[in-house]
Amino acid sequence: LKIALLAGGDSPEREIALQSAAQIEAALDHSKYDITVVDLHHRDWHYTAPDGRQWQVDKNDFSITVNGVHKVFDYALIIIHGTPGEDGRLQGYLDMMGIPYSSCSMTSSVVTFDKITTKRTLAGRVNLAREVFLRRGEAFDAAKIAADFGMPLFVKPNASGSSFGVTKVHSPEELPAAIDAAFAQGDEILIEECIAGREMGCGIMIAGGKEYIFPITEIISKKDFFDYQAKYTAGYSDEITPADITPEVKAELNRMTREAYKTCRCAGVVRVDFIVTPSGKPYFIELNSIPGMSAGSIVPKQAREMDMSLGELYDIIIADTCR
Ligand code: DAL
Ligand code: MG
Repeated sequence: LKIALLAGGDSPEREIALQSAAQIEAALDHSKYDITVVDLHHRDWHYTAPDGRQWQVDKNDFSITVNGVHKVFDYALIIIHGTPGEDGRLQGYLDMMGIPYSSCSMTSSVVTFDKITTKRTLAGRVNLAREVFLRRGEAFDAAKIAADFGMPLFVKPNASGSSFGVTKVHSPEELPAAIDAAFAQGDEILIEECIAGREMGCGIMIAGGKEYIFPITEIISKKDFFDYQAKYTAGYSDEITPADITPEVKAELNRMTREAYKTCRCAGVVRVDFIVTPSGKPYFIELNSIPGMSAGSIVPKQAREMDMSLGELYDIIIADTCR
């Protein structure tokens, strides 16, 4: 099987995506698969050979020619966070090329990378924080938002990851700067009420007719919230797997995770994030269709906890999606 492991991408999460891809490349069984790591950076899709020379992918037929050897890829393993790997763009290209891939479909990726669309899709099925959705240039009533949601509240880009552009706002005076920071990442933002509670990351995969519910991870951030620094700098958060929660809370998290996965018609492995209130009620935050796979990321720790290597995890995904 000639696999293109698609890496990098164009979003602010590029560096994390490269770390995730490096870890997956190392985990895969190279005696079983012919793997070419392709770094997608805007229109430059290249493979870097061991001698440092770079070779371009031919996007017309999803092939590569290295030192005169021509290879048409059979399968795409997408390990890119953000655009174009997590938001459906790449999936659309691969669909047009007739190439199977490891992630959610184009439609499912579009829905899950767009926070307001995910929330509208899941409304009535999971608990959701209230939000105000704003497009660039739209008028809004800051005083009313502050009065309705109280403080603190969250301001976030509608479509981004790793907390880029996210601010936890503690007083109405901080709102304008937070809104500017979110709009710096895109033309649409969310202002959301803050649900106080414990943060949980829930891995799930349904593949080969089997459901894999991963052990739940509690994230205890040492920052004001689980921001970029807390996510990726050792010592800025504690991640406890399996989370110390009651059987009832665990069952409810698993139920909502399954509900989110199925309703959004996901494929492969995804991670669903929640806040659990002190009374034990989980609120859905978001669904990550290409969850972090770096050394510090959550899903690899959960897989380890259930005695599944990352190589085994991707063997299952490839067997399920390569048709
Ligand atoms: N967006 C980051 C990579 C995650 O969900 O883990
Ligand atoms: Mg995310």
